[in-house]
Amino acid sequence: MKGIVLAGGSGSRLSPSTGAVSKHLLPIYDKPMVYYPLSALMLAGIRDVAIISTPRDLPSFERLLGDGSHLGMRLQYLVQDKPRGIADAFLVAEEWIAGESVALILGDNVFYGLGFSDLLAEGASATKGAVIYGYPVRDPGDFGVVDVGPDGDVLSIEEKPARPRSNLAVPGLYFYDSDVVDISRSIDASSRGELEITDVNRAYLARGELSVILMGRGMAWLDTGTPEGLLLAGQFVEAIQNRQGMYVACIEEIAWRKGFIEQDQLTALGQALLPSAYGQYVVELAQEGR
Ligand code: TTP
Repeated sequence: MKGIVLAGGSGSRLSPSTGAVSKHLLPIYDKPMVYYPLSALMLAGIRDVAIISTPRDLPSFERLLGDGSHLGMRLQYLVQDKPRGIADAFLVAEEWIAGESVALILGDNVFYGLGFSDLLAEGASATKGAVIYGYPVRDPGDFGVVDVGPDGDVLSIEEKPARPRSNLAVPGLYFYDSDVVDISRSIDASSRGELEITDVNRAYLARGELSVILMGRGMAWLDTGTPEGLLLAGQFVEAIQNRQGMYVACIEEIAWRKGFIEQDQLTALGQALLPSAYGQYVVELAQEGR
């Protein structure tokens, strides 16, 4: 399975902070935002990842993350020249996907919580169709909303409905079989001129091939698209890291724990990041070897 981090868009709600830099490169506390979605794909065991961004920002992502070999990964960089919608990612990446199954995560989605790795493993293990997640929120009308029957079947999925049929928002994390490229090509742009991921998911639902995994109250799904959201996400990460002494979305740590790299490689990565506290953490992790 391959993975896509979609990190384009205009970031207009964060202007002027996004006037010269992608919001996905702004820090959430102590590391760039893109580390968080990238770490989710890594936790799902995915080593082949394409980062999609704007012509302006793509070179900065490449400077930050390189070819991924230091993490035991293969990173590819693909341009989305205009924000044509989330499902456009599959058209941008069509050649690179090359008929494989693919996970997609939005570059501004941050997840943290007990059991997240299991939820990812469950999504990644599907061999046919599509898997989305359902996350209870107070204001579901701002999101894609999924309605689920008593047996866990998807009954409906709607984009920003005026009258939501459930309180389950659909976060920006999806797993698809290789049909997703053809399906994305077959849908029409919406009234806002975008290829909507909800329409892709509806196509899977119409085939009877859409399943949903529910995220419980132990999971945090944070909004990072506004100044307040960005600040609160940073405070959340700071609180967890300082309280527990364990880092959120430390990509070097995850690469090592997943067996993508060896302990000596972890040491070298940490040393290159000194004297930051982040680098110190990675070095100590390698020393302790736990
Ligand atoms: P949005 O929040 O819809 O848009 P945005 O990030 O441009 O921000 P704003 O609303 O403040 O202008 O995008 C959700 C995520 O998907 C975000 O990480 C950007 C990404 N995205 C793309 O990369 N390409 C696209 O065509 C779209 C619609 C979104």
